[in-house]
Amino acid sequence: MNNNLSNIKKGKYFLDKHNCIGLPTETVYGLAANAYSNKAVLKIFKLKNRPKNNPLIVHYHSLEMLKKDCIVNKNFLKLYNKFCPGPLTLILKLKKGSNVSKFVTNKKNTLAIRFPSHPIAINLLKILKYPLAAPSANISSKLSPVTKKHVEEEFGKKIKYVIEGGNSKIGLESTIINLTARPEILRLGSLEISKLSKTLNSKLKFKKKSSLKVPGQNSLHYSPGIPLRMNCKNANSDEAFILVKKRNKNDKNFFYLTTSGNLTEAAKNLYSTLRTVKKKGYKKIAVEKISNKGIGLAINDRLQKASTK
Ligand code: TXA
Ligand code: MG
Repeated sequence: MNNNLSNIKKGKYFLDKHNCIGLPTETVYGLAANAYSNKAVLKIFKLKNRPKNNPLIVHYHSLEMLKKDCIVNKNFLKLYNKFCPGPLTLILKLKKGSNVSKFVTNKKNTLAIRFPSHPIAINLLKILKYPLAAPSANISSKLSPVTKKHVEEEFGKKIKYVIEGGNSKIGLESTIINLTARPEILRLGSLEISKLSKTLNSKLKFKKKSSLKVPGQNSLHYSPGIPLRMNCKNANSDEAFILVKKRNKNDKNFFYLTTSGNLTEAAKNLYSTLRTVKKKGYKKIAVEKISNKGIGLAINDRLQKASTK
């Protein structure tokens, strides 16, 4: 714990100087910077090579601070009370006079916000005077990192500091819901749609082509950098074969996300496994069929984007 405390203080030191740091969260690691500082936020875009028109998520720990930046509505409060802190991002209207850097929102009047539940993220946010803008800590369109080492692999010496926070518990990016109009899911995540719908008392849908156009949901995303095909019964010997059900034989190109069929475990292992097979020198990936239920929907969504040519 003491170790965590000094790491958090070190993180604050760099953030206060308008630098970016790697931040552990329960979904994936973020590349965090002071959301109120133009200088700091621009560094995020530069490091990630992210198009400037792709807005960022701002991370808070207190409702009080959030209320200074955006307009809170009834649907927000329902979801906040039930799911925050947690793997949920909500799009709200930005308040006039908010301190959030115009580069975070690409000068638009909406803001994506999240309350992360990772204790390190919470304890860091508690000692800061500003919320943290944090996209996933990867070069744009590549795989999100789920360990400190992954973040270091992405940015090398270009990043000043990454806080150690273990393996991200969930392993997939947060669910995103737009609350500025009729609630709509913009990105699938680990939360079950039925539970979210129940809380809002309205049936939420995920449309691949949402009414709210954001470049971050374009195809080719979450890419391992080598071709990937889905729903495979078998793989060729030159392909890494990613599996979720135990097979009788065990070939050297088999990589299990889970052997028990537990898709929550599969989600947690997905990005690490994709990185591993690439490091092992495979030039192609085949993935076994994964059922489109619960978190399986989000896994398949990421695989689909990763497989886009
Ligand atoms: O789990 C997560 O959400 C992680 C951790 C670090 O919090 N963050 C993350 O951020 O995945 P990023 O930037 O990689 O993905 C955020 C997505 C992008 O697709 C972006 O286009 C969308 O959110 N987004 C951000 N602001 C938005 C807005 N105002 N309206 C609609 N979409 C928005
Ligand atoms: Mg991302």
